[in-house]
Amino acid sequence: MNIGKLRLKGNLVLAPMADVTNLPFRLLCKKYGASLVYSEMIASDAVIRHNRKSIIRGLTCNDERPLGLQLLGSCAQVMADSALILHETYKPELFDVNIGCPDYKIMKHGCGSALLRTPAAIRDIITQLCGSLDVPVTAKMRITGNLDETLKLARCIESSGASALSVHGKTPGQKYAGTSNLEFIKKIKRELSIPVIANGGINNEETAKHVLEYTGCDGLMIGRAVIGAPFLFRRISHYLDKGELLPLRTFGETVDDLLEYCELSRKFGLLTYSDFKLKCQWFVRGGENVRTVRKKINDAKDLESVIGIVRDLKEDTSLIQKTPF
Ligand SMILES: Cc1cc2nc3c(=O)[nH]c(=O)nc-3n(C[C@H](O)[C@H](O)[C@H](O)COP(=O)(O)O)c2cc1C
Repeated sequence: MNIGKLRLKGNLVLAPMADVTNLPFRLLCKKYGASLVYSEMIASDAVIRHNRKSIIRGLTCNDERPLGLQLLGSCAQVMADSALILHETYKPELFDVNIGCPDYKIMKHGCGSALLRTPAAIRDIITQLCGSLDVPVTAKMRITGNLDETLKLARCIESSGASALSVHGKTPGQKYAGTSNLEFIKKIKRELSIPVIANGGINNEETAKHVLEYTGCDGLMIGRAVIGAPFLFRRISHYLDKGELLPLRTFGETVDDLLEYCELSRKFGLLTYSDFKLKCQWFVRGGENVRTVRKKINDAKDLESVIGIVRDLKEDTSLIQKTPF
């Protein structure tokens, strides 16, 4: 898939996810076959105030490129100014505009999904970003309940200068429940000339193939299913290429991923007790007999104890991988 002047090696994309898609996790997804990874959303107003916690979300390294940084905001000027600060700092290959977050606290400031109600603001934001940056700008939208309105919004995004569009086939009101509307996604794909990336509910090899074939989209964006399971990218790309399922991995291999996450977090100064503890719970969820392990992790009082528990898991032969990821 090509996005503007950017040539991607494949068409599997890691969805932007707050508190999930930090640099160490993106590197694991990249290693297992994601062709493009997005940062979690970065609040543009916080960036122009030079808020370190927000700016650091763009932290990157050469191994993960190409990287897309996702911006959240409602004011075109603020978004363009924040993009320039982030571009100067991290030189991402592209920027993405969040037109999908359904969180009330975000929507009440006119950001995320609230933008679906103000196409003029979408136009301003994308036009200004495209005019200020020399890298492609993409957008990620949800659908509305109305097909014509959704198609109009998609056309507005394209004609404002976006180089690709990811579509989460759920309305803001659905939040994360229900199914992704593949019919809407398919119609958007037919309507636009820029690459369209389908998103929502892709959680295994078969759904990936079905969504790609049914919608005719250029790429697939995967979110929740890879949380704690970056290897799913390898499984899906293998299935799409060869038409066969990879065998189940061992639980030890999942633990290796977790230890790698730990080392990468340490390397980039992002290793914290609370983050690693949470990620441990996510990574071990596919194992059998993991109840005691999860409790042990939960009760661990400091970072070194959590790491010790994870290292011991490598030796524990009673733990078996139950689900593929
Ligand atoms: C924990 C979490 C955080 C998310 N954060 C973002 C975000 O920062 N920006 C965004 O555009 N979407 C965000 N999303 C939505 C996902 O990118 C994706 O659109 C959604 O989860 C549907 O895809 P999935 O069914 O593969 O999970 C988030 C979703 C989850 C579960």
